[in-house]
Parts: sequence; structure tokens; C-alpha cells
Amino acid sequence: MFGEGAINKVADEIHALEGKKVLLVQDQALEKVGVAEQVMAPLKAHGIPYVLYDQVTSEPEPSLADQGAALAREEGCDLVVGVGGGSSLDVAKAVAMLAKNDGKAEDYIGLETVPMPGLPTIMVPTTAGTGSEVTFTAVFTMREKKAKGGINSRFMYPDLALLDPELTLSLPPNVTATTGMDALTHAIEAFTSLQSNPMSDLVAKEAIALIGANLKRAVEQGGDLEARREMLLGSLLGGLALASAGVGACHALAYPLGAFFDIPHGMANAVLLPYIMDYNLSSAEAKYAEAASLMGEKDPQQSGESAAEQSVKLVRRLSQNIGIPQRLRDLDIPESDIEKMAEMAMTVARPIANNPRKMTKEAATEIYEAAF
Ligand SMILES: [Fe+2]
Repeated sequence: MFGEGAINKVADEIHALEGKKVLLVQDQALEKVGVAEQVMAPLKAHGIPYVLYDQVTSEPEPSLADQGAALAREEGCDLVVGVGGGSSLDVAKAVAMLAKNDGKAEDYIGLETVPMPGLPTIMVPTTAGTGSEVTFTAVFTMREKKAKGGINSRFMYPDLALLDPELTLSLPPNVTATTGMDALTHAIEAFTSLQSNPMSDLVAKEAIALIGANLKRAVEQGGDLEARREMLLGSLLGGLALASAGVGACHALAYPLGAFFDIPHGMANAVLLPYIMDYNLSSAEAKYAEAASLMGEKDPQQSGESAAEQSVKLVRRLSQNIGIPQRLRDLDIPESDIEKMAEMAMTVARPIANNPRKMTKEAATEIYEAAF
């Protein structure tokens, strides 16, 4: 469900899914900007009982999902509504799953490890970024183990993605920028993934065009509803593309930045994307050339560069224009840790396997060095 005011239909959708008592999963930041109230008001107006779980933090630990699921069981909730950025949506999806499956969130990290469907879910993204509202993944950070991993299961697909652009109007510029670059990364990586297919290409291309045309505008003029709408649509399509074709090495190399240094997911991808594209250039030329034209490049020959090279330049320019740091050193990543980051990146198996150019530990090290 998509459109301005869509959130006012949330009560009807809860009824349609036969929800009698809702667990609302979100982070505390939403209360400060009044978005939480925009979601709760229709529940109150329709007399739908709900319980709030608002302990979600950025790059969440799996224990947060365990806590939320315990609350859902205690309170007898039979439907989960997730509201927020990727962290809140991922926790909400895992909470709904754990409410019907034994054990802890960490036990289910892996591919198709979940035996039973969870509670029905409605996902309400408030960032134009992760696309988590349409994917089967919930990503968690295990800080003690310095690891990141995802629960990936067919039972984690949300029942409804409810996207209301008005809920994204209060996003600050830096979050708009980093989450928007995450969405662009999904679109570009899905488009060039070895698993890409005609259906994922359709949505990936539309996502690249929408994000290319609207991200800068949304960062500079947060109140521009049209730019916000196009960005939210772009991130949804990016999510659908990645749900079908997967992501690539940028996501794999971004993971260690989150696990070791708590760099938010969007920021990690944003910094690394141009460097990964540089590396992939020779193996994805036709698609990168197409991406350049989708991002508005009209005459690539003028500068003597190929259209594919232009796409890297366009992404880099966009990222500079919206204030993304351009180097790992700007994020205080120590150069001495590059070796162990490359080691960990290579364990993020599926994105590594999807990458259009073969990724090795040596290549990952070189990419980090270049980005440093
Ligand atoms: Fe992502």
C-alpha cells in the first residue's frame, strides 16, 4: 500500500489480517519527531489495543528481538507492526517470527532455518533506504563476537508493506543521505548481480532512475513531498530488486564496518559503493553504461570516458553532493584493521557470490586500501 495518508488505513489492514492486539515495534527517535503519534492515532481512533516495544537501536543486537518476542507473548499480541528504518523493521520481523517459534533470534541466523510462520506483520518504513518492508531478511549485529548476520526465511516476508511518504518528511538530511545511498546500492548491486533476471532488472532500473533524480533534492529540501515520494518508491523498488537478485560485494565489504566500528549500514555502503563499482567496471560494462543513462548522463563520449566509467563518476558526485564522507579514514577506521575486515567480508557468502566480478580476499583488501 503506497501513498500520502496511507497510514490512516492501518486499522483496516489490521482488521483484514484479523489482528486483535498489536505489538508496535519502533525506536525512540520516532517519538521525538511525532511520527510515532501518526501511527498510534489511527489505532486509538479505531479502538485497537496495542503494546509498544520501543527499545530498538541502530545496528540491533538479536537480543532485542528476543525481548520484543517475550513482550508479545506476555501481552498476547497477535500481530506485529514495525515502524522505522531498517533496524526497527528487521527487529519487528524477527519478533513476529520468534513469537511462534522456540529459541532465540541468534539461533535462526542463516538461510531457511525457521520451521514455522510467525505472527502476521505490517511494515511501515520511515526511511527511504533498506527496502526491508519487502525482503525476507533481518540483519543483526553481534558486537561481542564482532559479527553480523541475517535471519533469512520465507516466513519473514511481511504480510503488508505500508508506505506513506508523509512519514519520511521529518528525516534529517544526513539520514536521508545515507539511507538513500543504501537504496541506490541495492538497486545497482541487484542490477549487476549474477542472479539478476528480467524481472529484477525492471524494478532495479526504475529504482536507479528514481533515486538518481530525487536523492539530492530530498536531502536539500526535506519537506519536498514529491522528492520524498519518489525516494520512498525508489527504495521500495530497490528492495524488490534485491529480494529477487540479491546484493553484491559492496554489502559484503560494508558488513565489517558495522560489526567492528558501529558504522551505520547506509553510511558503510555509501562510502564503499564507488570503489566497488570501479573494481566491477570490467565485468559489468553494459549495465553500468545503462545505469549512467538512467542517472541522467546524456553524452558520455564528450569527456573521452566510456558510459560505464561515467556511472561511477555520477555515483561519486551524487555522494559528494549530499555530504557523504569519501574515505574510510574519515570514519576513523584504522588502516591496520583492513586485513581482518577483508577476512570477515569474504564470509558474507551470498553477496560475495553474486558480485559480477570475482571477489577475493586480496581484491577486498585492495578495495579497502583504495577507500582508505
Ligand atoms: Fe542495504
